[in-house]
Amino acid sequence: MKQPLRVAVTGAAGNISYAMLFRIASGEMLGKDQPVILQLLEITPALDALKGVVMELEDCAFPLLAGIVQTDDANVAFKDIDYALLVGARPRGPGMERKDLLEANAAIFSAQGKALNDVASRDVKVLVVGNPANTNALIAQRNAPDLDPRNFTAMTRLDHNRAMAQLAEKTDSTVNDIKKMTIWGNHSSTQYPDLTACTVNGKPALDLVDRAWYENTYIPEVQQRGAAIIKARGASSAASAANAAIAHMRTWALGTDENDWVSMGVYSNGEYGIAEGLIYSFPCTCSNGDWSIVDGVDVSSDFSKEKMAATEQELSEERDAVAHLLP
Ligand code: NAI
Repeated sequence: MKQPLRVAVTGAAGNISYAMLFRIASGEMLGKDQPVILQLLEITPALDALKGVVMELEDCAFPLLAGIVQTDDANVAFKDIDYALLVGARPRGPGMERKDLLEANAAIFSAQGKALNDVASRDVKVLVVGNPANTNALIAQRNAPDLDPRNFTAMTRLDHNRAMAQLAEKTDSTVNDIKKMTIWGNHSSTQYPDLTACTVNGKPALDLVDRAWYENTYIPEVQQRGAAIIKARGASSAASAANAAIAHMRTWALGTDENDWVSMGVYSNGEYGIAEGLIYSFPCTCSNGDWSIVDGVDVSSDFSKEKMAATEQELSEERDAVAHLLP
């Protein structure tokens, strides 16, 4: 049996976590031969609810679940962890402006960044799910100066999966037929779901669909899918978000398929002209537990340039709004 890996999850009594923890404990994230210790963080008022979740985890008698920590102290939750799924975040309350939301979350993610810096494994892989995910990841990263910025990522895999599913439906194919999907930029309605490099059964996706459908229906539907789910379900996506978080970590740990890539919000080193230091979603491949941005994707069209710049602009504005809180 392998040594257990330590996986921290924040917001562990929330909706996404309820759809995620049991799958992590069953081996769906890191492999069916990899024991895990779950280190669960909640705010103090939610510790009772967390206790209930932990009782249910125990009652599953998962063979791979080697231990559970439950706490309201980030320094305990992040001690020696190999993976962190930062799900807990401050939701937008009544009358709260976007700036207030950014600031409330900046406080949470700067404290968590500092705790990661102090107590996590030096190789910790961090995925931020809690919104605004890209900027929260940037804040955590900036507060963890002793960790490699490459350890901090934000989730756009749900957008990636949504884009795959919508295209499969339109082209009467399955998601298995679709390769090289890309989401550029922010996990928000400015994201750019880009079909330029994408193929369906080996054929260019843009040869199979109408340009007007792509620009006026497909892109807005992928961008607005989260809002459509809230409208239909009366609650935000939870199971699909949990699924995407597991897929993001699994891909990072175990690698991408040959001739394919995934979308990940990662630290920009200036690739594709995107400002250095932003956490921006790029097409990425993973191997040996490391990610790299795919080189040479065609972004030369005016349409792509404009869409990529718009979502970059939004990320720059989010960063500037919390600049006074960044070290
Ligand atoms: P939820 O409200 O059901 O659960 C959030 C949990 O986080 C609550 O139990 C709360 O007590 C906890 N929490 C709040 N502050 C915390 C802190 N400082 N430390 C630890 N725990 C804390 O929300 P849900 O549905 O689970 O969503 C969580 C987040 O994920 C939200 O910010 C949501 O917007 C985001 N999200 C992101 C997606 C993405 O694709 N990146 C997709 C869907 C949701």
